[in-house]
Formats: sequence, C-alpha cells, structure tokens
Amino acid sequence: MNVGIVGSGYVGTTLAACLADFGHDVINVDVDESVVRQLNDGDSPISEPGLDDLLDRYAGASLFATTDYADLANVDVVFLALPTPTNDDGSIDTAYVEAGAEALGGVLADIEGYPTVVVKSTVVPGTTADVVGPILERESGLQVGVDFGLAMNPEFLREGSAVEDFQHPDKLVFGTTDDRALDALESVYASLLDDVPVVRTGLSEAEMIKYANNAFLAAKISLINELGNICKEYGVDAYEVADAIGLDDRIGEEFLRSGVGWGGSCFPKDVAAIVAAAREQGYEPALLQAAIDVNDRQPERMLDLLDTHVDVAGERVAVLGLAFKPHTDDVRNSRAIPIIEGLQARGAEVVAYDPDRGAVETMRERFPDVEYLASASPTLSGAQAALVVTDWPEFEALDREFDLMSGDVVIDGRRVVERRDGLTYEGLTW
Ligand code: UDX
Repeated sequence: MNVGIVGSGYVGTTLAACLADFGHDVINVDVDESVVRQLNDGDSPISEPGLDDLLDRYAGASLFATTDYADLANVDVVFLALPTPTNDDGSIDTAYVEAGAEALGGVLADIEGYPTVVVKSTVVPGTTADVVGPILERESGLQVGVDFGLAMNPEFLREGSAVEDFQHPDKLVFGTTDDRALDALESVYASLLDDVPVVRTGLSEAEMIKYANNAFLAAKISLINELGNICKEYGVDAYEVADAIGLDDRIGEEFLRSGVGWGGSCFPKDVAAIVAAAREQGYEPALLQAAIDVNDRQPERMLDLLDTHVDVAGERVAVLGLAFKPHTDDVRNSRAIPIIEGLQARGAEVVAYDPDRGAVETMRERFPDVEYLASASPTLSGAQAALVVTDWPEFEALDREFDLMSGDVVIDGRRVVERRDGLTYEGLTW
C-alpha cells in the first residue's frame, strides 16, 4: 500500500518506520525541513530503541520524507499524527491537527481513488467527525463517505518501547464510519490481524478508548498510591498488599507500584484533557480529578516525610533520578520537578544525578542552580539526605555509596533502595 503520514513527531516517526517495516511505501510530510532532511538521511529525530535500525533500512528506499503535501498524490491511506498540546485549562489545543487537515484537504482532490484519512492524534470525542471531517470537506470540495474515507486509530505506545509496542500491540482500535475506510485500515495492519484483537468501532468511541485507557491506568496508579499512603499510616508494606491484590485477575498485577506518582507526556496531559472535556459537557469527573490530586500530593508527601527527619535548610540534599521514568531522557512532568522545587523552597542545596545525560541537560536549563554530577557516588557524597525519584535499575545496586553521605536519611519514592542498618530509610508507601 501507499501510506502517507502527516507529522514526524514521536508518533508519526514511529508509525512511518514501522509501516515501512510492514512492507508499505511511506511518505512522511512535515513542515520542519531539518526533520525531513534528517529522516531522509535515515536518522531518527527522536530516540527510541529500534527506530534507528528501521530508518536505516527503509529511509530512501520505501520511506521518504517531504515538506510538500502534493507528494501525497498516490496514497491509499493518510494518517494525521500531529500533536495536541495542552491549553491552560487542561483542554487540548487542536490547532496543529486543524492546520494539518487544512493542508491535506487542499490536495485531497488530487489523490486518486478513495483515500482514507486516519486521525492518529489523541483527540476528544467528536473531533474527527465534527472538526477534521468538515475541514477536509471544505478544503477539498469532496464528501466524507462518498469521495474519501475518515477513520480514527489511536495509539498506545509507551516511551522507550514504542517500536516494540507498535509491533506487538495488545489491541488495535479501528474507528470508522464506512466499510471502505475499515478495509483500508485492515490492509494497513494486515500483518498483525491474525495475532492481535481488533476493536471495530465508531469514530468517537475510538477517540474515547484512548482517553479511557490512559485515564484508567493513571487512576490505577493513584489508587494504589492512595492505598499505599494508608498502608504507611499503619506501618503496613504496600508492596506486599499490592502483590496480593494483583493476584485477583480482575485487578491485575501491573501498574500497582506505589510511590511518587506518574509523569511523562501522556498521563498528565490526557487525564487533564478528558477532565476538561467532561466539564465542558457539564459533567464533573470527581474520581479523575481525585486521581490528579493524589498524584500532585505524592511529591509533597515525600518532602513532608523528609521534614520529619531533617531540616534541610542550608544542607546538601541528593536527588537521584530526573527522568519521568527509567530508560528515557524525557523529564516532562517528571516528579523530580516538584521535588527539586520543594527542596529549593526549603533552602536546601540540591545536587542531582540521572543516568541519562539528555535528562540532565534539560533539567539544567530548568534548574540552573542545581549541581549535576556524573554518577551516584559524588552526588551522595556529603549529602545530609537523599531522595530517590526514578526507578533506574542502577539505583537498585547502590549500597556502600550511601556511606559517603554526611547524614543518613534516604527517602525512597520508587522502592528501589534496600532498607539496611546504618540508614534512616523511609519508603514513601511502605
Ligand atoms: C503511557 C501509557 O503506558 C501508554 O500506553 C500511552 O500511549 C502513553 O502513556 P508512558 O508515559 O511512556 O506511557 O509511560 P508508562 O511506562 O506507562 O509510565 C507512566 C508513569 O507512571 C511513569 O511516571 C511511571 O513511573 C508511573 N508508574 C507506572 C507508576 O508510578 N507505577 C506503576 O506501577 C507504573
């Protein structure tokens, strides 16, 4: 098949490389010339395991990037994979999606046959049918369902395993309004259909499934964090409790690690967006708001726990972990941000370390007053207290390094450090 992709961000690039790997001819359109050049050279604009290999193999062969929408003339299917950033009230800004739809609409009439436009961006229910469809019709003079198809196909990729998740998804969600659009999506994903459950549904349902998926997972973590906070009050080990309840199939063992909460580019943005969308519809989503509130409180609880052991004003305090999760350079909504802000507000001298240099450099721009060190040992050296914020595997191996501290307080927000003699060790929820 000939597949077009509008947008070469995180999702668009992963989609382009993986669809080329499925054997399709892929054209990727982006307004950014430097990204287009990079892709055509086989270099990934984002860092994801496996992506460079795929681009190396297919760029210039079956995968081409361009700034010109007219190059989409031969596509059978075209995905809109554009960002939907957050407005101040938590709602999504659809300006990029609308601009992409406008530009695509301008060339849609030149595409032969019955092209199917697929919204891949995360958008609230109604956006594909009521915003994207009408823009495409207006700009092209064509009609949805008559001249071209419209579909919604959300993604569930995790950072750090996006390629693997794309190749081995738990499910595929095809939101369509007509059989030809559905056929087109089934052809795109033909190589997965034997092994992966497919949800064939409507456009708004597909849009909602994405939000429901992320809202459920984020709320699940907030729920185990709340239960963990109660466990802590009783001196009960929340991890033993989580392991036990996870044996109930209806609960499931995953996403039950309590601690300092969720961050990243998806959960905070998507939960805020669906809460804002619900409010706009006149429904107050009390539980999802509570999930956000619990998440916002976990870093404060970690700092409160620190306060019970040591007054950090003027003291050196080590922060271990800056990325929002291990194996990424992404610090967006990382729990380390409110932790560092809280420490600085208390007058502490903050020293920090993350195994990912990219994460360090981004944090350096945000917190230039923090001292960033090259490994855990010099970071812990001379510190009154240490706070563990990201569950990087290398923190699990830390042991004698804690002897370098001048104090002995270790507050663990991710259950990675071994409790042992000589340390005043506090787990956030155990
Ligand atoms: C998430 C979803 O998993 C993915 O399906 C969606 O498409 C995008 O959002 P991602 O943000 O990459 O992916 O990270 P994920 O591995 O899901 O972790 C999210 C956050 O939850 C991290 O901050 C992590 O530390 C935290 N988390 C996860 C917990 O605190 N406890 C857990 O048990 C699991």
